[in-house]
Amino acid sequence: MSENNSQSSANANQRRILVTSALPYANGSIHLGHLLEHIQTDIWVRFQRLKGNECYSVCADDAHGTPVMLKAQELGITPEQMVEQTRAEHHQDLKDFHVHYDNYYVTHSPENKELCETIYKRLDEAGYISKRTINQLFDPEKSMFLPDRFVKGTCPSCKAEDQNGDSCDVCGATYSPTEVINPRSVVSGATPVLKESEHYFFDLPQFEGMLKTWIRSGALQEEMANKLQEWFEAGLQQWDISRDAPYFGFEIPGTENKFFYVWVDAPVGYMASFKHYCNEHNIEFDEFWNPGHDTELYHFIGKDITYFHCLFWPAMLEGAGYRKPTGVNIHGFVTVNGAKMSKSRGTFIKGRTYLEHLNPEYLRYYFASKLSDGVTDIDLNFEDFAQKVNADLVGKVVNIASRCASFITKRFDGKLSTTVLEPQLFAEFSQAADKIALYYEKRKYHQAVREIMALADKANQFIDANAPWVTIKDESKQQFTHEVCSLGINMFRVLVTYLQPIVPALATDAEAFLNDKLTWQGTQNALAGHPINKFKALMQRVDKDKIDAMVEASKENLQAASAPKIEADSPLAKDPISEEISFDEFAKVDFRIARIAHAEHVEKADKLLRLELDLGGETRQVFAGIKSAYAPEDLIGKHTVMVANLAPRKMRFGLSEGMVLAAGPGGKELYILEPHEGAKPGMRVK
Ligand code: MSP
Ligand code: ZN
Repeated sequence: MSENNSQSSANANQRRILVTSALPYANGSIHLGHLLEHIQTDIWVRFQRLKGNECYSVCADDAHGTPVMLKAQELGITPEQMVEQTRAEHHQDLKDFHVHYDNYYVTHSPENKELCETIYKRLDEAGYISKRTINQLFDPEKSMFLPDRFVKGTCPSCKAEDQNGDSCDVCGATYSPTEVINPRSVVSGATPVLKESEHYFFDLPQFEGMLKTWIRSGALQEEMANKLQEWFEAGLQQWDISRDAPYFGFEIPGTENKFFYVWVDAPVGYMASFKHYCNEHNIEFDEFWNPGHDTELYHFIGKDITYFHCLFWPAMLEGAGYRKPTGVNIHGFVTVNGAKMSKSRGTFIKGRTYLEHLNPEYLRYYFASKLSDGVTDIDLNFEDFAQKVNADLVGKVVNIASRCASFITKRFDGKLSTTVLEPQLFAEFSQAADKIALYYEKRKYHQAVREIMALADKANQFIDANAPWVTIKDESKQQFTHEVCSLGINMFRVLVTYLQPIVPALATDAEAFLNDKLTWQGTQNALAGHPINKFKALMQRVDKDKIDAMVEASKENLQAASAPKIEADSPLAKDPISEEISFDEFAKVDFRIARIAHAEHVEKADKLLRLELDLGGETRQVFAGIKSAYAPEDLIGKHTVMVANLAPRKMRFGLSEGMVLAAGPGGKELYILEPHEGAKPGMRVK
């Protein structure tokens, strides 16, 4: 039995639980999006252990597939070497965020190979595997079949160039790579040719009945079960599970040069990682994976990989005679400051970059304070982040101890009082245990945090009301002061126990200070006459400059890694390209050709010119900040481009009914747009 579980073996109602997080791909770094998931998982696992359950957690790097193979080629190393390097790096990143796995493995392992072969053979024997010849695009230069995302070309629907092999970013159409006009291989640039190949298929539709029952068995959040219902209605298809050589993966038994598609061996990687751990720690693997045991199995995943975990995976398990997951816990995506993580804005933040600037427990606390059991996206807003951590963890929780500890150390021989003041107040703290436990169990961490912070407020109010820093000066109130401070420390101890799954390092430091091992059961009693140690600051406030430095460093990372062509003082470097928008978003803006019918200075305005813009039937008044670069008389009669459907804006000098477009940093360097000859006022620009 593992160290983490050893103290729990005495518990008679002990549950036996295996937990996994999705396996990060081995061709990129751990970023804050991944961390949401690992932190969510880790909090749940730590909570289970704190409650005395036998809970194991495993993860691994997802090693196989074309992108990994190509990246290793690019780096001039073998995929095995690359995968091992990345695995070690990922594991270290996670450990430094206090995310603990009993085993952090890799899918390119002997255990995984063997399990994949066993599962495949069982599926084949049961008649769930078939063969069919398909036509696929092939790169004749590289001699390899091309996955959809390795083909680019012109959209067959809207004719936009340089679109993906399976979908168009401009018009949103999806299609098969064979329909793309002028396709080319992203790998070599060659024109792909169609080539026949025999593929292996898994008979997913056979499992429809079982899956429909399973998704309503309580294994899934209701909103996700509803989503799956839509997929059933769209119809389940045979699943293509083979890929042709060259491919970094496991060869399918009984074939030549056919490999398991990466999504076949990836979830089996959960089993393999656990198997490796079981072999080393004398745990019965079968009790967790064969049907008929009362063990529990949970997968934590992001919403983007639901199809794989809630359709293919349970069907594979069932078909091969294994148990199905007790639950698949699905979370939403991390956005930063309200937008998708962006490399150009410096909000695509790697775990390592974060660690170079900030305390990992800030992030654990912040995510916990926002995580529910739903699949809505979670926004990391840096203002809110600093505010919450400073106000809650530092300002409320740690503050309780720092207000009480020094009196105990200096005046009362370092020991808590033997009697408990206001037992009903302490009882309120103890009685919250079940409610908070239920919130953790149900993954409603935000509610657990809210509950804990409400108690922290109560503790601080108690201390404020009794002002030990005043009573300590009164000789007749020494006993009272001792009891106030002791109750303060006891309340702090209960709060930190409740927070332990979220901030385990803070809890460890608090244990050293309290001279006590924190356990869930321990929240039911106050410590009396107990010696404590000298208090040391348990957590620093979030320094906003560090956040800025982290964002800056994230921008630099990108420039160094993949954008060496951008000169440091070029317009692109100073003002990076904005977040991608959809075609529909773009289409909302109505640009029109306008003739500048009149232009003049505006009295008392040092930046503005007043323009009258003729749209060929309508005239608009626009105040434009271009005075520093243009004299009014140079503009009159020129054609330009304006945003015609911008909401009018009331300015000090009158109503501005649109906007003219100009480029440049400002001052003399401002250049309004001028269309080619022939464009007439009122024409739409699109
Ligand atoms: N390798 C597959 C998973 C195989 S599991 C048998 C994969 N890897 S991934 O690296 O792309 O993603 C790993 C996990 O991180 C997924 O659960 C994914 O949803 C999650 N996230 C990746 N980016 C994320 C955010 N921006 N926000 C939250 N979670 C995100 O998929
Ligand atoms: Zn298109």
